[in-house]
Amino acid sequence: MTLLSIKNENVIYKVKNKSIHAVNNVSFDIEQQDSLGIVGESGSGKSTLALSILRLLPKKTTEVSGEIIFEGINLLDLSESELENIRWKEISVVFQKSMNSLSPIHKIGSQMSDIYMLHNKTASKAEVKNKMTELLELVNLPQRVYTMYQHELSGGMMQRVSIALSLMHNPKLIIMDEATTALDVITQGQILSEITELEKRLNVTRIMITHDMSVVANTCKKIAVMYAGNLVEFGFVKDIISNPKHPYTQGLLKSFPTLKGERGVLRGISGSLPDLSVQHDGCIFESRCAAKGERCLKEKPGTVILENGRMVMCHSAGGDN
Ligand SMILES: Nc1ncnc2c1ncn2[C@@H]1O[C@H](COP(=O)(O)OP(=O)(O)O)[C@@H](O)[C@H]1O
Ligand SMILES: [Mg+2]
Repeated sequence: MTLLSIKNENVIYKVKNKSIHAVNNVSFDIEQQDSLGIVGESGSGKSTLALSILRLLPKKTTEVSGEIIFEGINLLDLSESELENIRWKEISVVFQKSMNSLSPIHKIGSQMSDIYMLHNKTASKAEVKNKMTELLELVNLPQRVYTMYQHELSGGMMQRVSIALSLMHNPKLIIMDEATTALDVITQGQILSEITELEKRLNVTRIMITHDMSVVANTCKKIAVMYAGNLVEFGFVKDIISNPKHPYTQGLLKSFPTLKGERGVLRGISGSLPDLSVQHDGCIFESRCAAKGERCLKEKPGTVILENGRMVMCHSAGGDN
């Protein structure tokens, strides 16, 4: 069953006298329990897309159009008060630095309880305490974390608290935006394997935003490749890893993130992202594409639909290239 359906979504940031097209005519569906990885280098529009689903983009400076349909409801039509019933309860998010929004001077447990009570105002003390015990267990944290302060936690423990917070109200969809990127490889691996276990148990669908293809390959069923605000390839991980069709996907699969992370140069793809504040006549990837032809300079490719729900935005995708 389709949980989330994004249709022709556009997000434009209005800054000074510029319009930055951060998300450009993006459409795709997420089926229940189909973990989806969204990949692309820094500046591709991944976080913008995530924030738009949660309606967390600044209202004054952004223009969002299209449809974001969650369980049959277009989230873009909802009022702030209606959104209260969706955010955290139905859709939640974990950021790389989610813990930054917690206070360093209050104990973790009391803050978790306060957050829980925001949506469960009538919960008794015992009920809240039980819920917190259950949540800490869920994310493999010792109970003593309840009485600890933020500065006493390791990076991995902090992300576990963030994940516990995101699962607090049993959401159907959880969005993780570079949530494990800052962790060492071993901790990242542990948390990722725990999450994939948990989501099966709790019936949660996950969107995993990352610049790291290996994270998606290891933990997701489907993949959405974004480049400069465009969805350039979409489909099952197994199909795309074995036979990437878009030259950008091919390049991503050849490159590895540097130790410093997201802003590293991609091996296999030279050049950098185009200016998102100017309109491009041809293919958005043309300036960096080694396989481009005449047509790519003049004509924006449409999305080619292939077998197995696969989509590719490239002039050569339909042929035997
Ligand atoms: N608040 C903002 N105001 C203006 N431009 C923004 C804002 N946030 C992001 N952008 C721009 O939108 C584009 C996409 O950014 P982002 O969604 O953060 O990409 P990613 O998460 O893939 O790194 C970038 O060009 C970025 O500079
Ligand atoms: Mg981002």
